[in-house]
Amino acid sequence: MKAKVSVIGAGNVGATTAHLVVQSGIADVVLFDITEGIPQGKALDLAEAAPLWNVASSITGTNDFSDTRDSDIIVITAGFPRKPGMSRDDLLHANADVIRKVVAGTSALSPGSIYIIVTNPMDVMTQIAWTVSGFDSGRVIGMGGVLDASRFRTFISLELGVSPEDIETLVLGGHGDSMVPLPQYTTVKGVPLKEFLGHERIADLIHRARNGGAEIVALLKTGSAYYAPAASTFQMIKAVLLDEKRLLPCSALLRGEYGHRDVYVGVPVILGKNGVEKIIELPLAKDEALQFDKSAHAVKSMVETASANEQK
Ligand code: APR
Repeated sequence: MKAKVSVIGAGNVGATTAHLVVQSGIADVVLFDITEGIPQGKALDLAEAAPLWNVASSITGTNDFSDTRDSDIIVITAGFPRKPGMSRDDLLHANADVIRKVVAGTSALSPGSIYIIVTNPMDVMTQIAWTVSGFDSGRVIGMGGVLDASRFRTFISLELGVSPEDIETLVLGGHGDSMVPLPQYTTVKGVPLKEFLGHERIADLIHRARNGGAEIVALLKTGSAYYAPAASTFQMIKAVLLDEKRLLPCSALLRGEYGHRDVYVGVPVILGKNGVEKIIELPLAKDEALQFDKSAHAVKSMVETASANEQK
């Protein structure tokens, strides 16, 4: 039987993720949204592309959670973008509410599934999804580090004129502007980055990667990035469904690793059919450890703010 991936939120990131999964042929897809017509229309459009891609995946668009029953993976991209006049806390509460509803509506229908959370602020949303689901923490994972690392690889590749395929890197910490890139673990075909670039140039590229999401928002004006977020999500889906045991930076629940406990934050993990199968602990330089601590504390405090608001 084919694997089943449900994508919740049929907006830009969700629909593009569904596109990548359908085109790969590795799973059947259910696309869910609260807006009527959108998931059905996008699913039909994708189904009509399937013959051209020579794939036999089925794709269903729905507003009914029961269609997600027995999913192997549930990807959550549902949420609101930050609108003018909305504070970060307003966005946090609005999206926390969406995550709670979606997880409450899907977890009992797919008790053996793995959640991949994309909605921002991602690390916080992942922790909320884990709490609401009651799932083993390894089966609730956040997508952030894969995207941050891909952005950093892109900028290094542009700077050096080297294929991004030959650039390896790891990015830890909270997703986005609190990410912690690790130049000491960044190589060009195994050669340390510092052999190619000086400290200041590396710092410039880190700055650009950290602001990668904002740079795209500034250009698009009415939306945020979706091709690279969807491609990053697809890499995680593939690692799980094909049990690839990839070493990828993902948001995972720490239980003492990196000196933190009970908080979701980006760390290198082994990703396979059981979700997060192992967290890899690496020695960090002093400033990297400080940045990591800062982003873990930021996630913790946002989780507290969101749960205080829920109890009101
Ligand atoms: N249940 C299901 N879908 C919902 C719900 C809900 N409770 N609330 C909102 N949605 C849907 C919207 O109807 C919309 O179709 O979520 C979708 C969000 O799509 P977009 O606005 O296009 O946002 P997108 O660019 O896809 O980003 C989604 O991913 O990268 C992150 O920061 C980004 O948090 C954002 C998320």
